[in-house]
Amino acid sequence: MADFILKGKSRTFRGEITPPGDKSISHRAVILGSLARGKTRASGFLVSRDTLATANAFRSMGIGVEVNAGEVEISGNGLFGLEAPREIIDAENSGTTARLLAGLLSAQSFPSTITGDSSLRSRPMSRVTVPLRMMGAVISGEGDTLPLRITGSELRGIDYGTPVASAQVKSALLLAGLYAAGRTSVTEPERTRDHTERMLRYFGVPVEAIGNCVSVGPGVEFSGNELEIPSDISSAAFFIVAALVNPGSEIIARNVGLNPLRTGALDILREMGADISVENRRECCGEPVGDIVARHCPLRAVRIEGESVSRAIDELPVISVAACFAEGETVISGAGELRVKETDRISAMAGELSKLGADIRETRDGMVINGTEELRGARCESRGDHRVAMSLAVAATRAQGETVIGDAGCVSISFPEFFSLFEALGDGK
Ligand code: S3P
Repeated sequence: MADFILKGKSRTFRGEITPPGDKSISHRAVILGSLARGKTRASGFLVSRDTLATANAFRSMGIGVEVNAGEVEISGNGLFGLEAPREIIDAENSGTTARLLAGLLSAQSFPSTITGDSSLRSRPMSRVTVPLRMMGAVISGEGDTLPLRITGSELRGIDYGTPVASAQVKSALLLAGLYAAGRTSVTEPERTRDHTERMLRYFGVPVEAIGNCVSVGPGVEFSGNELEIPSDISSAAFFIVAALVNPGSEIIARNVGLNPLRTGALDILREMGADISVENRRECCGEPVGDIVARHCPLRAVRIEGESVSRAIDELPVISVAACFAEGETVISGAGELRVKETDRISAMAGELSKLGADIRETRDGMVINGTEELRGARCESRGDHRVAMSLAVAATRAQGETVIGDAGCVSISFPEFFSLFEALGDGK
């Protein structure tokens, strides 16, 4: 799909949605399933461009990865069972694929090369190559970007304090640490999503966590397992905000992952006065899960900073949309990481929402947004970023007149059915 056109009619969002599987957990299911011995079956698997890039990478390393309607079956060959990849690994648009595989491949006994699309080739990789080289990895090129040419070598564990709060960095080092001599420890400035740690433990691999420091030791072989992947809170967030800002709306998002390091958006929206509740809380394969109910209600401005930024990092674009309709001035700061996502999300949200008449300006590491009653329809651009495209669709529900979102097909990166569900739930019935 090239453009998405949203007619300027008032919408209410009503009904139930089971958002697609969690993207972060889906990547990790393929990675750890490939390193396990025997079959791993994961239901709820997200079938999207990002996760298929990870699946293809492991296929090219001799692993059977079969994807069937929301389920993936991986035939792992054990910790030392990967083969040299048959081709250059193309992580496409996926930072998680590139960075986690950089860690894993640094420790293999064969060379490999990782590349990606033009967006990913412009994103920083030194955050993983610097600590991996400290572990003894041989990665060619002085540059900070893909392609990375990895020789494959024997690693040693390190005790690393990472300057960026990044689950991708932490996970890359933990995966490398499974092969390194001695322990590998990573200390983060703020805790980030711990799906890798939880899934490793679920597979029976001991992971120690004390405060902001996590560590693994080498060499523990593990067996394949059954996994149930919850729905992605980052995908649910678009429908939650659409319901909050459109009068008469009420939606239930079922079976959503509620890992406390991922629920920052719910906390921020509640602080804005949102009517959000959680039902049916339960635990699934080591991850908390529940159903989220969101109802329309007036919102007020907030300050978003500190640890809530990393707990809501992927939801800040759609939170900036919520802030457009909140009373007062919302200030987001300490979110400079948004500038190195699939696109510069600070510049993208400020620039594109301005086209719709929003009162929003960018700062070095965030945005300042003054709420308004209504936006006006216009042509805007996704800039090739799936979360920007979906956030703009939510903004357009409160814009007078027609809105066109250019290059909206990029939603297939994380949420291929987004627009059909959006039309189905947002028709007011
Ligand atoms: C992810 C971690 C986050 C997040 C990304 C997925 C992961 O990135 O933004 O969408 O699966 O580990 P950083 O770790 O770079 O912040």
